[in-house]
Order: sequence, then C-alpha cells, then structure tokens
Amino acid sequence: MLQDIMDKSAKADYPINALIAKRWSARAFSDRPVEKQKIMSLLEAARWAPSSSNEQPWRFIVFTIENGSKERMEEARSVLSEGNSYAKRAPVLMCAAAKKTYTHNDKDNRHHMHDVGAATAYMFLEAYNQGLAMHVMGGFDAEKARQLFGIPDGFEPATMIAIGYYGNPETLPKKPREKELAPRSRKPAGEWAFFGQWGSSII
Ligand SMILES: Cc1cc2nc3c(=O)[nH]c(=O)nc-3n(C[C@H](O)[C@H](O)[C@H](O)COP(=O)(O)O)c2cc1C
Repeated sequence: MLQDIMDKSAKADYPINALIAKRWSARAFSDRPVEKQKIMSLLEAARWAPSSSNEQPWRFIVFTIENGSKERMEEARSVLSEGNSYAKRAPVLMCAAAKKTYTHNDKDNRHHMHDVGAATAYMFLEAYNQGLAMHVMGGFDAEKARQLFGIPDGFEPATMIAIGYYGNPETLPKKPREKELAPRSRKPAGEWAFFGQWGSSII
C-alpha cells in the first residue's frame, strides 16, 4: 500500500489531496510480479480520464514478465534509453500511444498527446492507490517501439511506463540512486499561474 513506497510527499504550499501529494516517480523497482487485477485497475483509472470529444485517443501496450511473454518484455526493455535502464527491472512496462485523428470526422486531434497524458496521470494516481510504484519515461526509441510493437500509422508513441512494487533504492547505480533519494521540488505557482493576463501573478 501507499506506506510501502518511500515517502517523498510534496511539500505543498496549499492543502491538496493526499494521493496527489504522495505520488512520485520511483526508480527502484522490485521484481515481484504485479497481479493482473491491479494492472486492470490501473487501466480502468486511465479509462475514466477526460478527453477531447470523449475520443479516448490513448492506447496502452502492456508487457509483463509472466511466463510466455518474456520475449515481448525483452523487446520492450530494448527501446528504453540508456538513462532509463533502471526501468528494466520493473515487472511491468507499458507503451502509451495516442491516436492522432478524431474517429468521427478523421480530422486532426491536436489534443491527442494532452489526452494520453491525462490518462497516464490518472493511472499514476491509481498505481499509488494500489501500493505500486510507477515511472513515466519519454526517453525511448519511438521508431523502434513502433516497429517492434506493431504501432500503426496514425498513432504516435508517447511514453514508456515502468510499474511495479517498490524495491531497494540502495541497489540502484549512483546517478539514479541520487535522484531517488533527492527531495522533490517544484516551481512556485506564482511563476506559472497568472491572473487575468499573461505575466500577472495570481499570488
Ligand atoms: C512525459 C514525461 C516524460 C518523462 N521522461 C522521463 C525519462 O525519460 N526518464 C526519467 O527518469 N524520468 C522521466 N520523467 C519523470 C520526470 O522526470 C518526473 O515526473 C519529474 O522529475 C517530477 O518528479 P515526480 O514525478 O517524482 O514528482 C518523465 C515524466 C513525464 C511526464
């Protein structure tokens, strides 16, 4: 559950929901398999995200270390960038992709990446609710992913996602370990939230 994952709660300036405060991007995954039911709950959370015209442009390809799917998992691991090697230990990887056009009129959906991001954020919160750690990664070979995973034209690979139970941060190599143990930080809202007009601080 939540308390099994290292606590890196946000130092929030204003009160926020506990789950939002507690979620963070872990790198130290245990190799303990994740129950299928939990994976389905994560996908269910993504399912209820909002999207432009309710298009639901997100697609998720799931890879696990279960028997019979090891070869596919190896392929999924092979698209990760060097800096994301920590994610090779995760027992679940996903590739998130987005449909670039609206289904009802074939016109470009300029919100497709926004909406796959929203679905992924919902999934992220549910992962923490289920006691799982998760990490979203933009560092991967999108063209290789397209070929290996059979992603058709008209869909854009967005991210790779690592999911699993939390492991031991001491097992990470130096650089990811330092990131793992560092406090989380954010710009203050006054830098990016405006009131009435661009540049006019809300605070
Ligand atoms: C679209 C996207 C791409 C990201 N790409 C990577 C990545 O390639 N490698 C990585 O280690 N983290 C990646 N991250 C994680 C961010 O670095 C992380 O969310 C950010 O530092 C804030 O940390 P927190 O999620 O723990 O609050 C990515 C996050 C997002 C949303």
